[in-house]
Amino acid sequence: MIKTLIEKFTNPAGKLDRILKPIEKDLLLLENNLRENMFSGNSELDKMVAYFFKSGGKRLRPAIIILYSRALNRGYLADENFRIAEAVEMIHTASLVHDDVIDEAETRRGFQTINKKWGSKLAVITGDYILSRALSKLTSVGILAVEIFSQTLNALCIGEIMQKNQSFKVISMEEYINKSERKTAKLFMAGMECAASIMPETNNLVINIARGYSYNFGIAFQIMDDILNFTGDSKKLGKPAGNDLKHGIITAPVIFAVEEYDKTGDSTLKNLILAGLKTEKDFKKAVKLVIDSNGIQKAQVLAQDYSSKAVNCLANLKDSVYKQSLIDLANYSTNRKY
Ligand code: FPP
Ligand code: MG
Repeated sequence: MIKTLIEKFTNPAGKLDRILKPIEKDLLLLENNLRENMFSGNSELDKMVAYFFKSGGKRLRPAIIILYSRALNRGYLADENFRIAEAVEMIHTASLVHDDVIDEAETRRGFQTINKKWGSKLAVITGDYILSRALSKLTSVGILAVEIFSQTLNALCIGEIMQKNQSFKVISMEEYINKSERKTAKLFMAGMECAASIMPETNNLVINIARGYSYNFGIAFQIMDDILNFTGDSKKLGKPAGNDLKHGIITAPVIFAVEEYDKTGDSTLKNLILAGLKTEKDFKKAVKLVIDSNGIQKAQVLAQDYSSKAVNCLANLKDSVYKQSLIDLANYSTNRKY
């Protein structure tokens, strides 16, 4: 019994469960809706949609929306705010399904991707369908929600294009953060901002807290994702480690590593990247150079800096169990193992 308890509180999944305990029932309902309420009437489509939602996911985007909504509304969760949380997870899912097509990825969350199992054509349609369901949800919330999310989808697309254009280029930290804001943070921001904006007693303060927290949380989350791409266990990540660099995606650990080697006059890593890491030998050499440098530790410090900023943004929010979970979630996001 004690052993089980210790395991639950020390393993990352157990830690996340504990942080999200105050909204456990909301997340169960959300999970149920994602798995049971997405039917299109077309069995082929339904099979692919259900397959993806069953592969799990941390559901962090809906979690921060629900926590903030309850924190702002004396523990109460309005139906509109719950629908925003559902729509955000759907948009995130649609973007992953499309991202796997773009990346020609074979696995995600430990399962075969839709494109690998059913082909890219059906995967594109599946992503489109999930997106269309998200838009219906947002329409039911109101025009402001539709407006906020249409701008966010715009940013997501630009982020994805920026990433494509940056491939095998030695980009600056500013360019990396800029792209990460569009590709990742904007969706966290849209959800929390939208939830805060439709509150009956909304004001600039609660909207600014939402923006500040979700921006910093989103960037910290992306940096951590990029670190785990080097240090994480492929099995737990559900996707191959080192994959980003292989595809020319230059992330925080690599930027710090290139900077460090540059200072000593060593341009091996930079030249390998610019030459496109064409062979397995070049790729392995580049990964080793990143791991042997202080790039990963520096990226970890940067992620922690963003997560501390996220926590600081909550300073003027009234204390509650929900606020505490938002604080713990920001800290968890930079200590997670997958
Ligand atoms: C995964 O990140 C991908 C994204 C966060 C954004 C993908 C965006 C698009 C495909 C454009 C918008 C499309 C729709 C349908 C909304 P990652 O590549 O860093 O993570 P990964 O290693 O898990 O793939
Ligand atoms: Mg990807």
